[in-house]
Amino acid sequence: MTRSNSLAGDCGVIIKMIKISKNKLKIGNFFVSDLIKKFGSPLYIYDEETIRQKYRDLYKNIKYKPLRIYYACKANTNLSILKILKEEGACIDAVSPGEILAALSAGYKPEQILFTGNNLTDDEMRFAINEKVMINIDSLSQLRRYGMINPGSRISVRINPDVGAGHHEHTITGGPDSKFGIYFDKVGEIKTIAQKHKLKIVGIHEHIGSGILDTNKFLLAMKVLLKTARKFENLEFIDFGGGIGVPYRKSQKAIDMSAFGKKVSELFEKFCKEHGKKLTMTIEPGRYLVCESGILACTVNTIKTTPKHKFIGVDSGFNHLIRPMAYGSYHEIIAADNVNSAKKENALICGNLCESGDIFTRNEQGIEERSLPVIEEGDVLAIMNAGAYGFSMSSNYNLRLKPMEILINGNKARAIRNKDSYNDLLKGMKL
Ligand code: LLP
Repeated sequence: MTRSNSLAGDCGVIIKMIKISKNKLKIGNFFVSDLIKKFGSPLYIYDEETIRQKYRDLYKNIKYKPLRIYYACKANTNLSILKILKEEGACIDAVSPGEILAALSAGYKPEQILFTGNNLTDDEMRFAINEKVMINIDSLSQLRRYGMINPGSRISVRINPDVGAGHHEHTITGGPDSKFGIYFDKVGEIKTIAQKHKLKIVGIHEHIGSGILDTNKFLLAMKVLLKTARKFENLEFIDFGGGIGVPYRKSQKAIDMSAFGKKVSELFEKFCKEHGKKLTMTIEPGRYLVCESGILACTVNTIKTTPKHKFIGVDSGFNHLIRPMAYGSYHEIIAADNVNSAKKENALICGNLCESGDIFTRNEQGIEERSLPVIEEGDVLAIMNAGAYGFSMSSNYNLRLKPMEILINGNKARAIRNKDSYNDLLKGMKL
């Protein structure tokens, strides 16, 4: 039996490469449990073909051209993943000097990178200027400081359109509670400062939040930005940010990309006609491109019970995948070698960190028991939809090692990042 990744739902892209075969989870031509045997546990596993398909799907469904897709690499900064998306034609949204370095190392040209930093220091701006990477200005303070450092240059400006959206309040980046961008009613001040330093504003940008499944907010913000854009004479591109959500639960419906792409294209086309110039449309998806390509596979080592719960303990924790702990995010968890079983029981899946909150089975309200096949010590579990904001948000908390990252391409499986070593953990520390 095969099925599409259940998390892909009704999405336009059928994710065929993550499937169930003989009741076992398979990625490309590999059973997940075999990958654990070969590379060790825990393991981040990504499927290359899924990433390529997601990029192509997005590019195809937004009919307006020229369209530039800037991959928001904070979702997953592995160099191999950056390279795959570069081959597909992506550019890069970078938010730190480190991400600029990663993009350059993966082969992106400076002009393919937009640096959207928040609360940047002058030194961080100088870093980008030296690397010839365009800066997307996030505040009037930054605009003034940038103008003095690099007068006469080309810039983009991030606007807060007074609209925000996202799967959790921590991921809403527009509206009055957000620290990002310059409020849309401050265009006069933006232009005065820009004129003073002879800065040419060639782009305006917004990003209203992350994990958006209801596209109405995205479209509303788009209209605000297009209205704001009329006040700028030298625009070459308008960047509508990222935020395109993916379903994490079977009950969630994927965005109808064809309908969404049509609406976005029509709005932009109409604007360009009125503006009298065909501009480049830019978007910055992170999650949409990589989330469904990845899983975090781990191994059960301890099972215990309290009067209330059965705890299934694994060799990973929120140091590897913090989303459940940080946002109460739901991630489907699958028993890799016994996906569908008639015999089920309720349990919590927990990590190995010394914190009570280290529980993967959560929802927005708190911890939740999941009905899972009866699990035994030694079983491999797969935490699904872990390709975005998984490894990139991982840490060495409790001085634990970060996992290895593996990339699958059909019948090839290769490590794209080594597991941490104990030397890495102590690096830089002094007695
Ligand atoms: N552009 C900018 C300026 C951003 O700040 C972000 C995400 C994106 C694009 C991409 O958003 P996406 O398409 O991936 O939704 N750690 C959270 C998500 C935080 C996103 C921060 N900014 C999570 O795991 O849900």
